[in-house]
Amino acid sequence: MKFRQSLLAVTLSLLPLTLASPQSQSSPPPPPLWGGALQWSSLVNFSDPGDSPLPDPTWQFTYHYDSINSSEIYLHGPNNGDMVCINTAHYPPGDPCNVLTSSDGRTYITHIPSGECCISPHHYGMLNPDWLINSNATYNGTDNINGVDSYEWACMGSVNGINNYASTTSEGREPVAFWEEHKGAEKRWDFILDSYVVGAPDPGVFEVPEGCVKYCPIF
Ligand SMILES: *[C@@H]1O[C@H](CO)[C@@H](O)[C@H](O)[C@H]1NC(C)=O
Ligand SMILES: *[C@@H]1O[C@H](CO)[C@@H](O)[C@H](O)[C@H]1NC(C)=O
Ligand SMILES: *[C@@H]1O[C@H](CO)[C@@H](O)[C@H](O)[C@H]1NC(C)=O
Ligand SMILES: *[C@@H]1O[C@H](CO)[C@@H](O)[C@H](O)[C@H]1NC(C)=O
Repeated sequence: MKFRQSLLAVTLSLLPLTLASPQSQSSPPPPPLWGGALQWSSLVNFSDPGDSPLPDPTWQFTYHYDSINSSEIYLHGPNNGDMVCINTAHYPPGDPCNVLTSSDGRTYITHIPSGECCISPHHYGMLNPDWLINSNATYNGTDNINGVDSYEWACMGSVNGINNYASTTSEGREPVAFWEEHKGAEKRWDFILDSYVVGAPDPGVFEVPEGCVKYCPIF
């Protein structure tokens, strides 16, 4: 028994060294760009129980992001509970709706069933590709999210407490998930990786809707 104990002690004393050496050679992965690239598109499973007035606060949107041309669009699908569509543009909850932030700095909100469109009186702007880097996001280890090996980072959001972001561990740092506490609930993006594409989105998707010149009414 005495022999075994000392062998165990030797093993334990060697263990930290063995574990420490790979860590000291590679520093934690730095926070990536939003979505892993300056221009990309993806389908997203979205959940926003803090905002959506619908019983099921989940829906899908297609997202096109172009930080080089300063344009971003959300194509919200059925069961849409997006606050910009509902509270800013006053469209009925559930209806598909597009929210375009154009390179002219304005946000155009289109109700898909009627084709109606209005300009947001609020300035929303678009997400900066460096926001994780600029907010000093810290590495929070690896995880398996939606069946994908992921790196995780966390940072303090400007309004919503802790923001969490997960990417693939591959060099492209493809987006896996983003979640934050919002109005006491978890607001969450789950990226559908099969649909993720890097590169300039078709410029047509960022075209300002024809005849969209009126501001949304403020009640
Ligand atoms: C990030 O860190 C830098 C350098 O310490 C600091 O100047 C900056 O204010 C920090 N930004 C945030 C959002 O905490
Ligand atoms: C980091 O990850 C752990 C484990 O998943 C989680 O419990 C913790 O809340 C995360 N930290 C932050 C700051 O989000
Ligand atoms: C997205 O939602 C669909 C439909 O609910 C589901 O089948 C799929 O697994 C989800 N994917 C991710 C990555 O959350
Ligand atoms: C920016 O948009 C214009 C037209 O909308 C397009 O022709 C151009 O290729 C885009 N630039 C980049 C870098 O994607």
